[in-house]
Amino acid sequence: MIVFGVETSCDETATAVVDISARRILAQHIYSQYAEHAPYKGVVPELASRAHLERLPILAAATLKDSGLTWPAIDAFAATVGPGLTTALVVGATFAKTLAVAQGKPFLAANHIEGHALSPLLAQDESGHALAAAFLEENQPYLLLLVTGGHCQLVNVTAVGEYQTLGTTLDDAPGECFDKVGKMLGLPHPAGPAIEKLAATGTPAIPLPHPKHDKSLDFSFSGLKTAVKDLLAAHPQTNPADMAASFQTMVAEVLARKTGLAIAQTGARHVVVAGGVAANKAIRAALQQACAAAGAAFTAPPLVLCTDNAAMVAYAAGLRRTAHLSTGSLATAVLPRWPLGTSPQA
Ligand code: KG4
Ligand code: ZN
Repeated sequence: MIVFGVETSCDETATAVVDISARRILAQHIYSQYAEHAPYKGVVPELASRAHLERLPILAAATLKDSGLTWPAIDAFAATVGPGLTTALVVGATFAKTLAVAQGKPFLAANHIEGHALSPLLAQDESGHALAAAFLEENQPYLLLLVTGGHCQLVNVTAVGEYQTLGTTLDDAPGECFDKVGKMLGLPHPAGPAIEKLAATGTPAIPLPHPKHDKSLDFSFSGLKTAVKDLLAAHPQTNPADMAASFQTMVAEVLARKTGLAIAQTGARHVVVAGGVAANKAIRAALQQACAAAGAAFTAPPLVLCTDNAAMVAYAAGLRRTAHLSTGSLATAVLPRWPLGTSPQA
């Protein structure tokens, strides 16, 4: 099954063509709307939807061309219908629905978070192949650490469509925390990549609190963010690179510790990290180390699949259709809030 995917839930406009059973991305394009939102230091929904409308047809044509296919070769058209910004979601969903109607093919409503959750199965390295064989062929579960701008969850993934949340953040998501700390350090939005770059030149020597250092699998990041704010206010001469390195090290430590606890509690053999914050190399390294210490295999998607993209959207929708799970219909409305594991009609 070949699925054409569309992603417009926030400030990335993306299209992809994915061969579902082969686990292959045939082509994909991503346009990040940094320039549009930069003057406002955050994402402006109205500007995001305008940019999606402008860019989507161009990206879609380029993606189809790069795939070497023609429209009739596409078996289904998927789009993120939630969670995300309503006005942004509407553009991508309507675009994919229109293509589906024009081609007489099904429209598949995709959950953005499910896309992130299943994205490591698209990794084409040894660990990705091993994960896919264990999960898709031998029905072995994996432990997912999902870390994005809006989510932080430890999830037991037992099958496509079956997700048991073991722990979640009680306040901020790690990506949100990276973005807010970045703003304090005068870095452009989204600040995750900028903090990582700055941290590479600093020393992680500033003592910061380790939030929720307990046995639960829940997270908390707002105290860490406030500690950075208070320290910067009390010591305006603080070297920003040292603060970036200290903050990043603490986030990595928190994520690695809770993942280690989750492995111990569940006996997980495969651990997967996904979402935008999974692009951070220090965090990947800390997780790799925690998994090795606990005797679990570790898979992280390639960087381009960590942040928002349409390949994960096409893949999640295609896997659901293959498994005969609900994938909505042309009548499915956008769902700005859509918890993982609930039906698209909810
Ligand atoms: O998954 P994603 O692209 O969008 C959401 O669904 O939220 O995640 C975006 C978040 C942003 O907060 C961004 O700052 C963060 O991921 N991020 C990073 C890195 N790249 C993106 N955080 C830390 N290090 C990075 N290299
Ligand atoms: Zn995302």
